[in-house]
Amino acid sequence: MQIVKKISEIREILSDLDKNNSKINLIPTMGNIHEGHLSLLKEANKYEGINVVSIFINPTQFNDIKDFENYPNTFDQDVNLLSKNNCEIIFAPNINEMYPNGLETKKTIFEYREILCDVFRPGHFDGVTTVVKMLLNIIKPSNVFLGEKDFQQLKILETLIIQNKLKTNLVKCSSIRSSNGMSLSSRYTKFSTKEKTQFEKCAQIINKNLLDLINSFDTKILENIKKELQSIGISKIDYCEVREENNLEISNTNINSRLFLAFYVNEIRIIDNFVLY
Ligand code: PAF
Repeated sequence: MQIVKKISEIREILSDLDKNNSKINLIPTMGNIHEGHLSLLKEANKYEGINVVSIFINPTQFNDIKDFENYPNTFDQDVNLLSKNNCEIIFAPNINEMYPNGLETKKTIFEYREILCDVFRPGHFDGVTTVVKMLLNIIKPSNVFLGEKDFQQLKILETLIIQNKLKTNLVKCSSIRSSNGMSLSSRYTKFSTKEKTQFEKCAQIINKNLLDLINSFDTKILENIKKELQSIGISKIDYCEVREENNLEISNTNINSRLFLAFYVNEIRIIDNFVLY
């Protein structure tokens, strides 16, 4: 496994691979590799090609500087895990390499905006689309693998690929969930014991109401979820909504729909979505 830090170096390696007609599979990450990321690598193994994992904690997608500073950075542990899981190249540029002209972003994707996380994290998706466009331009992968946990991100990045006519196939991968039913996330490694207990209680509330939503859909259940989360001390709930998964519009049935949730356990933001059909 190679660890590459410079754009010029990865371009050189990839152009040699291109001469041999090798395909590239890209798994973009911000590090703190967990089972969720490894499941993307596993999926990539089903496709012909060289597996490249990018690790870059992208400053422009954090709307809160404290969140950026607290984001777990576990590079050595990540290298160790990836080396055992069929990753051939780690691309880990630093901030100057990716943003030589300063931390600029552009709003280029207007679809699936002004809803869900875009309302609560202004500028976040401009940071995501800016960095992913750079990564796709540098690496030119045949396939890029993204998890459904960040469902709105997935839709926005799908639009980015279509709009820019990029020759990359987007492979959407189901969330990997822990035994409490919640999707895995790098942020959860930061839980204190008390926060972990509160998170487990949140998971129980969500699971119980999820069954109700699936079995006898009623939008009142969304109010129940909020009330029950508040009753155990969750004071910041960004959203608790059911949306249709193709267009992300509010849905009043569970047909083709998902429950979308974002809330905070203290300072740690939880986002997840659940299929309702
Ligand atoms: O989902 C993530 O980890 C990030 O948003 C991504 C796609 C790697 C871009 O920084």
